[in-house]
Amino acid sequence: MLQEKIQQYTKEIEAFNPKSADDAEAFRLKFLVTKGIVRNLFEAFKTVPVEEKRVLGKVLNEFKQLAESRYATFQEQFSSASSASKQAQYDLTLPGEGFAVGSRHPLSLVRKEIVEIFKKLGFTVAEGPEIEDDWHNFTALNFPPEHPARDMQDTFFIKKQEGNDIALRTHTSSVQVRMMENGTPPFRSIMPGRVYRNEAISARAHCFFHQVEGLYIDEGVSFADLKQTLYYFVQELFGADTKVRFRPSYFPFTEPSAEMDISCTICKGKGCQLCKQTGWVEILGCGMVDPNVLNNCGIDSTKYSGFAFGMGIERITNLKYEIKDLRLFSENDVRFLSQFDTELI
Ligand code: PHE
Repeated sequence: MLQEKIQQYTKEIEAFNPKSADDAEAFRLKFLVTKGIVRNLFEAFKTVPVEEKRVLGKVLNEFKQLAESRYATFQEQFSSASSASKQAQYDLTLPGEGFAVGSRHPLSLVRKEIVEIFKKLGFTVAEGPEIEDDWHNFTALNFPPEHPARDMQDTFFIKKQEGNDIALRTHTSSVQVRMMENGTPPFRSIMPGRVYRNEAISARAHCFFHQVEGLYIDEGVSFADLKQTLYYFVQELFGADTKVRFRPSYFPFTEPSAEMDISCTICKGKGCQLCKQTGWVEILGCGMVDPNVLNNCGIDSTKYSGFAFGMGIERITNLKYEIKDLRLFSENDVRFLSQFDTELI
């Protein structure tokens, strides 16, 4: 009697093919709960005559194991099916959410361009500290003690020290001094970096800006080398139709000194607002390194000569991109900053 029932349920279990987690739950409720079939059969087993118990007990236990293991299989089946259906909720054909990548600052882009051009001519890149002493920023560069550039109006002093004040560098010529002091000629390097001057912030002036200075020292370097180097640089940066001119000027550390203009990049020399109708715009200062500077830095000025130049990266960037307000470079407005890096667009 009991055995037949077990056989019948066994068939039912073996044929049971749940389609959902609900079906599996129905199976559990039918067979495995306190008042379910398995328990009932065990209750009924208690009344079985002793001589049948051995055989029937084994059959009943097998039946119980069958019910439990089937249920375990169903559970597994529907729990993985449910996570698979969760995955199916993602539509993998939708376009992804883009990362907000930054773009390189226009000043970085232009600095890189300048550096690449001089690298082609064999110039290396040198760097130095932004906090400098008076010797490297002024004295070694032949600034007389009373020179106005040392004045509090131009220089951010950090510490007054007898004979050697500490200040924020006002130009990267200080890196040239360090280079000459620590090495032996020939030198052929450019010095990009940030410099500081105590000026009121306006569209045309800022208390910090960026420079690329350059130094070339060897035996027999002449003003012709200076001119040709800078001419090549301008042609590379602004295009082959750009003209240059040199005007005599004065810097304490160069003799002779000059300022270099290029034909206006906007009007091509015809005259416009940018070039104040002159057709020319100034882009850098340059000259032959004063022998006093060479001597100050331990270089034999009777044997070696050289040239130096210095330009503001902001000025070059303004010309290249027709930017009229210097303050835009340091305001961190992404609408401005993201317009320049074409490699990212
Ligand atoms: N150091 C100068 C400046 O900051 C630029 C310069 C460098 C001029 C080298 C001549 C030679 O204005």
